[in-house]
Amino acid sequence: MHDLFADPAPGRRTALGPQACVLHGFALADADALLAGIAAIAAQAPFRHLVTPGGHVMQVAMTNCGTHGWCSDRRGYRYDRIDPQSGRPWPPLPPVFLQLAADAAREAGFDGYVPDACLVNRYAPGTRLSLHQDRDEDDRVAPIVSVSLGLPATFLFGGFARGDRTVRVPLQHGDVVAWGGVDRMRFHGVLPVRPGQHETVGAQRLNLTFRKVR
Ligand code: SIN
Ligand code: FE2
Repeated sequence: MHDLFADPAPGRRTALGPQACVLHGFALADADALLAGIAAIAAQAPFRHLVTPGGHVMQVAMTNCGTHGWCSDRRGYRYDRIDPQSGRPWPPLPPVFLQLAADAAREAGFDGYVPDACLVNRYAPGTRLSLHQDRDEDDRVAPIVSVSLGLPATFLFGGFARGDRTVRVPLQHGDVVAWGGVDRMRFHGVLPVRPGQHETVGAQRLNLTFRKVR
């Protein structure tokens, strides 16, 4: 593995593949509105640690908004319209979430992006997300749009097999990564988040990943 870049300025972009890129600082202007949106979502659908089909408790705490929410339990991974914890639909996608996702997708080369799901991930210091493909969506061409908030992290971006070489992508508060089209099924993950304190988000990293499920 090698470090892809040191410390790029907001407004710069880094290509990760033919249809994958980092838009540095793209979400900075909306960060406070996104954080308020996350707080409102978590008040209705609290963060929780899901159990994998193998019986492991996930380190990352998760919740969802949108018409479909990503869930995991002993029966498997799936999308569900209902939050299994509350028995109610997931909170809707806030307009600022939809606008940012569409704007970032357009900037990354994907016009007309209308996601129907947003997984919200919360990483405490030390938390990692192991290499995986996002493969529970019916649409495997529309991009995943991922927004980083709070503590920095190192994103791993790999190939189409788990064992393929990965690049290390440093992500800061306000960075957006988009991967779709020919790059949509690439393996990706997050290295353990280093301890620290972000001035507005505190001792955590928050991540939004927008998806088109149906
Ligand atoms: C994910 O793959 O669902 C999250 C990626 C991230 O937290 O950057
Ligand atoms: Fe993912």
